[in-house]
Amino acid sequence: MGLLHSKSKQKPEVAPPTTLFLLGAHGDLVKRLLMPALYNLSRDGLLGSGIHIVGVDHNAISDIDFAKKLEDFIRQEASGKVAEGGAEPLDPELWRQLASRISYVQGDFLDDSTYSDMAEKIKDTNTGNAVFYLATAPRFFSEVAKRLGSSGLLEEPDGYFRRVVIEKPFGSDLRSAESLNACLLKVMTEKQIYRIDHYLGKETVQNILVSRFSNGLFEAFWNNHYIDHVQITAAETVGVETRGSFYEHTGALRDMVPNHLFQLLAMIAMEPPAAFGADAVRGEKAKVIGAIRPWSEEEALANSVRGQYTESTIGDKSIAGYREEPNVAADSTTETFVALKVMIDNWRWVGVPFYLRTGKRMSVRDTEIAICFKPAPYAQFRDTDIERLKPNYLKIQIQPNEGMGFDLLAKRPGPTLELESIRLGFAYKDFFEMLPSTGYETLIFDCLAGDQTLFQRADNIENGWRAVQPFLDAWSKNSNVELYKAGEDGPSGADDLLTRDGREWHSIG
Ligand code: BG6
Repeated sequence: MGLLHSKSKQKPEVAPPTTLFLLGAHGDLVKRLLMPALYNLSRDGLLGSGIHIVGVDHNAISDIDFAKKLEDFIRQEASGKVAEGGAEPLDPELWRQLASRISYVQGDFLDDSTYSDMAEKIKDTNTGNAVFYLATAPRFFSEVAKRLGSSGLLEEPDGYFRRVVIEKPFGSDLRSAESLNACLLKVMTEKQIYRIDHYLGKETVQNILVSRFSNGLFEAFWNNHYIDHVQITAAETVGVETRGSFYEHTGALRDMVPNHLFQLLAMIAMEPPAAFGADAVRGEKAKVIGAIRPWSEEEALANSVRGQYTESTIGDKSIAGYREEPNVAADSTTETFVALKVMIDNWRWVGVPFYLRTGKRMSVRDTEIAICFKPAPYAQFRDTDIERLKPNYLKIQIQPNEGMGFDLLAKRPGPTLELESIRLGFAYKDFFEMLPSTGYETLIFDCLAGDQTLFQRADNIENGWRAVQPFLDAWSKNSNVELYKAGEDGPSGADDLLTRDGREWHSIG
């Protein structure tokens, strides 16, 4: 699991005995992702019998009913009634074993007695080790952290560990992220903090780093001598669904860019770390995200496009526009699409633009990175019918259809000289057996095993916000948002962003 897999000298083969508190136990994250991930870890023999899972939330429910509720949800998901997650039919014996170690603490996150009940629980389970997974609404992050600190739950007695997992969103701008970090670091050390970005749990994202540094050929052309520009796209077909009130004050930039898209950017652009350990990997990531050029507000406006989807009919289905979604203002200017150009000011990347785009209700679901190489010189083709040489692309397909491919030019068979684009490709499904997974398995196991490589360090998070802050500042004075029809790949301004640089978006899907 993770970058330091279980054969690593530093990592246990089975997670050590731990009481794992899931705060926000009745929320979607726990039932849709965390519990299925814990089940999958147990299926793979990685949890061991020393793991105790304790839901914490304000509703009253017995241990047995809580476990039953989770079981029902996972069963329902596995039978295809719920469209998310990576579940398979429950093995009754496996579930029985896991369920016998599931219990529940009823309590308010702002009430000190909840924390003394959690302390009691650690005594009962006798694990000594504890992880507090904050799957709560973000407004509780600092309040819970303070109380974990003041109740003594973060002290690490007799070599046992106490760790805190924090979900996204980590702040809503640079200032709030800095203040949340400061609050956490008052009561715990950086080594105890596991800031999650679920993109780092994706196999295809981890593989960027592993492929880059395990194949000698990549390094030879991985720089501004050969790479013209990089495009990172995270396109979704879903709208904001039931999350209107969250999304209204979040928008596509905050929701996806300083976290998920910058993680992809960092995997592509970072320098080789000295080892696949947490300090080395996170140190290189912090450097490269810190090297993103801070645009002035004027430059930020010129190098960004905000879009919002409007109603449309796709096939025989009519799709509501963003402003018609529940809990969204009728005159909302929140962006559901964003396209940006950023520059990385270091020796490897100077002069190579990174174009980022992400949006809801686009034509296809597709997260991909397209690395565009400088075209070959034209001289040999001058006296032929070929008017221009298309650039080569390396396309890294994060999801779906996970894989990787090079777009090259080849001669179409026949007596005349004609060029055809061909793809040298690798698809995960052709080489590997992919068991159902939620993407959280690696992250949970790594946290239990004490490997922070795939978690965000404070400086990674702050550098990410620092790089997007000029866009936030510029937009706060200029609320212009371009409209696009649901089912389109963003507004025309997104195309103009590249056209004026003499480039175009690589087609998605
Ligand atoms: C979440 C965002 O962090 O990532 C969602 O809040 C988005 O709005 C999701 O849909 C995308 O994740 P994935 O794994 O489906 O690409």
